[in-house]
Amino acid sequence: MTIVPVSLGDRSYDVRIEAGLLDRAGEALAPYATGRPFLVITDERVAEAQWPRLKAAIEGAGLAAELVTLPAGEATKSWPQLEALTDRMIEHGIERRDHVIALGGGVIGDLVGFAASIVKRGCNFIQIPTTLLSQVDSSVGGKTAINSRAGKNLLGAFHQPSLVLIDPDTLDTLPLREVRAGYAEVVKYGLIDDAGFFEWCEANVGKLLAGDSEARAYAIAKSVAAKAAIVADDERETSGRRALLNLGHTFGHALEAETGFSDKLLHGEGVAAGMALAFGYSTRRGECSGQETGRVVAHLRAAGLPASLGDAGISASGERLVEHMLHDKKMSAGTLPFLLARGIGQTYLAKDVQLDDVAAYLDAA
Ligand code: NAD
Ligand code: GLY
Repeated sequence: MTIVPVSLGDRSYDVRIEAGLLDRAGEALAPYATGRPFLVITDERVAEAQWPRLKAAIEGAGLAAELVTLPAGEATKSWPQLEALTDRMIEHGIERRDHVIALGGGVIGDLVGFAASIVKRGCNFIQIPTTLLSQVDSSVGGKTAINSRAGKNLLGAFHQPSLVLIDPDTLDTLPLREVRAGYAEVVKYGLIDDAGFFEWCEANVGKLLAGDSEARAYAIAKSVAAKAAIVADDERETSGRRALLNLGHTFGHALEAETGFSDKLLHGEGVAAGMALAFGYSTRRGECSGQETGRVVAHLRAAGLPASLGDAGISASGERLVEHMLHDKKMSAGTLPFLLARGIGQTYLAKDVQLDDVAAYLDAA
């Protein structure tokens, strides 16, 4: 088992990563048990694919659990679902010291984390992420949210889990398109500040997407360690270091908005195309060689991910895409910081970007 500590003083916790861990989760959860059954929150697809394993593990440890099953999909990160879930938690008798369990992808993790941040002014929660995206990104770091009418993730809180249990074998039932989308966030860590890990990705993407156990566990552990270090350094995104995790997200957000945050472009696919555009724009500014940008584009395409507007099926004008960016929650005092790159593993936060120049770049891209 790999254990990655997230060091946040009295809110520190461990991320445990091991193939087959879900079947042994009862042991890991036992210290968090109270007299009441655990409340496990999941979505309908994960309930079918993975709940029987967790249920058996909990019962095998002599514990009990009640399941709450929500609809699958981004629309579940909503006020009505938050209200229903918090009602259910209160009916269950959740107390502040109790732990609820989020079993699922980023949608369930974000919703359950937010519910836990507000019920009884804050109870505890445990993340058991079941998508590659949630295993390498959203389950670690304590960002929780639902969507508002005005945009994605606009209502939320920083609320750290007490424990994260990652079983890479849960990815066996995840559709390949979702695995690829999560892989974009893996590549992101190499592009941010670890050129050696990007090289590893280039060499191992085939094995990883084919479900190779060692490659999967290595990529997850490496990604979680990278995220844990950044979160420990800048938990609330105040110093700018955590903002590096948004590489590709400003461009990607515009593409997701253009496709209506729908299945036409999954979040990770938007991030992939967004990272390629961020590198392309860095090349236009003379900051990153065309050769390095070409390498990024080639790798994303090799992973079956979109790496251009065309790949992402976007034909909108640059002006229209920039208009979407203006609704980005990272807008501050009328300007939008951009994550750009001086090369692979050399991402930085640029505060001097002119949006009309971005629009011109997108028109030509
Ligand atoms: P998701 O939770 O919607 O899961 C994707 C799909 O896979 C769903 O249909 C789900 O039912 C299904 N699924 C999940 N695990 C499965 C499994 N093991 N087998 C079969 N099917 C399975 O999507 P996601 O990509 O995990 O998360 C996206 C969400 O994460 C977005 O809302 C995004 O805003 C959020 N996010 C949050 C953070 C953060 O730091 N909090 C970071 C990145 C993304
Ligand atoms: N996924 C971005 C962050 O956690 O900060």
